[in-house]
Amino acid sequence: KDRKTIDALMSKMTIEEKIGQLNQLDFGMDVTGPTISKDVEQKIKDGKVGSLLNAYTPAVVRKLQDIAVKETRLHIPLLFGNDIIHGHQTIFPVPLAMSCTWDMPLIERCAQIAANEASADGLNWTFSPMVDITRDPRWGRVVEGSGEDPYLGSRIAEAMVKGYQGSNLRSDTSILACVKHFALYGAAEAGRDYNTVDMSRLRMYQYYFPPYKAAVDAGAATVMTSFNEVDGIPASGNKWLMDTVLRKQWGFKGFVVTDYAAINEMTPHGLGDLKDNVVRAMNAGVDMDMVGEGYLSYLKESLQPGKVTMQQIENACRRILEAKAMLGLLDDPYRFCNDERAATVNLATNHRQVAREAAARACVLLKNANNILPLQENKTIALIGPLADDKKNLIGSWHDYGDWKNAVSVLEGIRNQQGNNVRVLYAKGCNLVEDDHTIKVLNESGEGLEKDSRSIQTMLDEALNIVDKADIIVAVLGEAKGMTGEAASRGDIDIPENQKDLLKALVKTGKPVVLVLMNGRPLTLSWENDHVSAILETWFGGLEAGNAIADVLFGKYNPSGKLTQCFPLTMGQIPVYYNHKHTGRPFNDTSLEKYKSRYFDIPNAPLYTFGYGLSYTTFNYSNITVGPSQLKGNQKMKASVIITNTGKYAGEETVQLYITDTVASVTRSVKDLKGFKKIFLQPGESKEVTFEITTEDLKFYNEKLEYIWEPGEFIIHIGTNSNELKSAKIVWASP
Ligand code: IFM
Repeated sequence: KDRKTIDALMSKMTIEEKIGQLNQLDFGMDVTGPTISKDVEQKIKDGKVGSLLNAYTPAVVRKLQDIAVKETRLHIPLLFGNDIIHGHQTIFPVPLAMSCTWDMPLIERCAQIAANEASADGLNWTFSPMVDITRDPRWGRVVEGSGEDPYLGSRIAEAMVKGYQGSNLRSDTSILACVKHFALYGAAEAGRDYNTVDMSRLRMYQYYFPPYKAAVDAGAATVMTSFNEVDGIPASGNKWLMDTVLRKQWGFKGFVVTDYAAINEMTPHGLGDLKDNVVRAMNAGVDMDMVGEGYLSYLKESLQPGKVTMQQIENACRRILEAKAMLGLLDDPYRFCNDERAATVNLATNHRQVAREAAARACVLLKNANNILPLQENKTIALIGPLADDKKNLIGSWHDYGDWKNAVSVLEGIRNQQGNNVRVLYAKGCNLVEDDHTIKVLNESGEGLEKDSRSIQTMLDEALNIVDKADIIVAVLGEAKGMTGEAASRGDIDIPENQKDLLKALVKTGKPVVLVLMNGRPLTLSWENDHVSAILETWFGGLEAGNAIADVLFGKYNPSGKLTQCFPLTMGQIPVYYNHKHTGRPFNDTSLEKYKSRYFDIPNAPLYTFGYGLSYTTFNYSNITVGPSQLKGNQKMKASVIITNTGKYAGEETVQLYITDTVASVTRSVKDLKGFKKIFLQPGESKEVTFEITTEDLKFYNEKLEYIWEPGEFIIHIGTNSNELKSAKIVWASP
């Protein structure tokens, strides 16, 4: 039926109307550059727009849809896209935080809730999931992704696509997903946003492509190009990426949209003028031009000299109409504007409950000396820090419809802990950032950086004064939300200097310090690790962060989050990631040998590794049993461990499976994550956890980029993080 409708529609469309469908304009703000769409309403009337981004509120969406449906010749409805990155009105923890839950049903549920709320508010397309693998915490957009691992990143990509799109895009609560940024955006040199990317194809296929592919396999309806170049050609004009890899190798059937004005940006990349680059993008297989209006201006005139073909334009137009049909928009253009549903679902109590659960599950306990956490009752807490009573930052970046006024600060969360005998004294202690240059640069991204009018000394004195009256210090420090996200790369990933000065003064008092961190990237924490009693990484936890953090601090929730990106010991280690190669001169961090792949002044290992995260309880892992340990061809094997809760609290553990391929035709990583399972154990309880392993888990890309496994010896590891593992050797022979 859809096909017939689209055929009929396309038979009536002029070339201009077809090109109009390929054009997306920005109705709202200027997101990433100087381009702001002009005369949007007139262009819609003229049939020159297929989609809008940043059109907020159901009333605005309805008004704009009205123009498309009632005032254009063919009444084709618009697609409304937006960056619904970690929730719509109910803001969940930022994606990097969500990844630390390792909880796929929860991640899917949060995406589902976001889609439910957004679809009621008129939106039908989210520019999410962002699945860019990254190994460089300087890059500001690590906050939007799932860290460094391709296997975990792939599972998360699938879960998010399923959450947004549901099993049926015709359902009222589903919206289109857009996997981004294809491809390799997370590998910008030196972690500087928009910078050059250059890597071998083997590395692309092995480590960086899997999450994009997983999202496509899960049915993602759209793909967004990245700003960076790949093999010397910007992604938006890269035919190998968009056509060979995405469409031919992976069988992607949906449509491709550029990132913001990315076709225009091929000019500063050094690839000629916009006319040339419009041709390049169309030939590459890019269907929709986000904001740049290059297609609108030059596509038609490129037909005549045969630089692009009518068939290419038709294909792109058809794909976009297919997406509209899939959503049911061709039958009911207003099905995504439902004031009644919007009033019920947005910020619904059960959505906020999920947000609270997610924020608690995302917390990663990095240190807990002498079991200082959970906090004991009947103690007086000095709650100190610029993020302790903050709401603007703790919800993180990208929250277009999310209102920080609905957030719960840590101070409020602690005060809400009814039933606990909680005495809390609060002082801000210092500004979030003192340095005016940083504030000026970040101010573009808005609120949250306002400086207190009091002097540094006055604020410090106030803090030290309450410390005097308290038993324990809880310092809530970290980054401003604008210090992560797009165009927010940092050359120094320490806690801002003025906050560190405050922390040093607090430590000097001799009272125990619990450091509660809010930030959107791995930080360098070696001083903190050496000097404070406990460190709880809470990221930017969303609207319910304050309640969730209080739940964790008081032991109502026993932390179970595990890192998904290494925290470097020092900046000099970057990039540091767990699944690195052996090299010809491997170094094990303990010997004194010089001619090894090492630094002579710092260890190779990060401060906190991938998969790391403590609990209030302790888990003991038995030795690993494997069976059989000698296999052939397509046989399967099992690897098991028995895990015992040896501590005092009930708790959840994420049991991780890694495999090492000891000999192969191309060099392999020291180990790769291949599975994980979550278990919940009461104190004293034991459970056996078994992984079934097949030859699928042994596969990798060889020199010819074929996805294969090779017989030989493998090491199976199971453990609590990528470094603390029980291991067993197996031999897997050819059939
Ligand atoms: O979706 C985003 C993308 O991640 C960065 N540039 C702007 C797009 C639309 O807002």
